[in-house]
Amino acid sequence: MRALARALPGPAVAPLVAAVLYCALRCSAGEGNVGLPDGTHHATTGGVESTHHAFSRMQTVVKTNRQGVVNARRLLQDENTDPLHQHIDNTTAHAHHAKANESLWFAAYNGDLDGVLDALQRGGSVHTRRGAFGDTPLLAASSRGNVACVQALLEAGSDASAVDGLHQSPPIYWAAKDGHLATVKVLILAGAPVDQPNDRRATALQGACEGAWEHVVDVLLAAGANASHSDIHGYTPLHFSTVTIGPKSASIIDMLLSSGAQVDAVAEDGATPLMWSATFGNVGAARALVGA
Ligand SMILES: *[C@@H]1O[C@H](CO)[C@@H](O)[C@H](O)[C@H]1NC(C)=O
Ligand SMILES: *[C@@H]1O[C@H](CO)[C@@H](O)[C@H](O)[C@H]1NC(C)=O
Ligand SMILES: *[C@@H]1O[C@H](CO)[C@@H](O)[C@H](O)[C@H]1NC(C)=O
Repeated sequence: MRALARALPGPAVAPLVAAVLYCALRCSAGEGNVGLPDGTHHATTGGVESTHHAFSRMQTVVKTNRQGVVNARRLLQDENTDPLHQHIDNTTAHAHHAKANESLWFAAYNGDLDGVLDALQRGGSVHTRRGAFGDTPLLAASSRGNVACVQALLEAGSDASAVDGLHQSPPIYWAAKDGHLATVKVLILAGAPVDQPNDRRATALQGACEGAWEHVVDVLLAAGANASHSDIHGYTPLHFSTVTIGPKSASIIDMLLSSGAQVDAVAEDGATPLMWSATFGNVGAARALVGA
């Protein structure tokens, strides 16, 4: 993906590349059974990477995601046709229904797929809200990287754009901020807007840059995230990529610059990414910025 971005640089071309990739991903899903735990997928293999390889790699991820959903659906169908479940008396059914929202939320939060499917079957609503930030089940599952639950909740009609009550952040922001790569991918494939800003105008890309989640940054950029987006203070993803020290920081800076980020972006307080790198003592980031 990075190689592709390098081959076709510039903000004018990037959205087109992203659109083509996005369509290829959405249209080519089949069934498969490859397990990729959250966070372990390597989005870049560095150096020269052909478009074909980029496509087939992403297809594997799509297949994996699809299989999870197929399994989830099968489970739901099995329960619906299970004769034992047809004879719940009315009192029990009513009690179950009243608790279904609560069960759904906690199962989503705890990454309990069986619990999520059970609660959905009992009438739990994906629009229910709970917790300190008034999260939907999808927000709760996304922020903790519970990817199987995220898939099931999206299949059940969750709104991928529904925001929390803290800073109006969408699920993709929380998933990206905490480096939940597989969850970010599932949300993108479900059509979640990659650049949906919160009330500080922060986007998922900013969150991923701040945590130095290199592969999440790569996936977001490939999906068309705006590398030059600025928040309410004028800070850009490049500023935030200097916060977490380590080799990934420089690599992210490289990716952002290849995607059209302005190396000398000046925030409202006059700070540039280079100034931030000095503030955080991020020598690698400073080197990457000066060498650009
Ligand atoms: C089931 O219980 C609910 C609530 O107690 C009641 O409103 C409903 O009429 C009952 N349905 C049947 C079929 O008994
Ligand atoms: C479950 O949550 C939905 C959405 O907020 C709400 O409309 C419904 O009344 C709730 N059900 C119960 C039993 O509280
Ligand atoms: C990217 O973000 C910048 C700064 O917020 C904005 O000016 C620009 O229009 C955005 N580009 C796109 C393609 O949305």
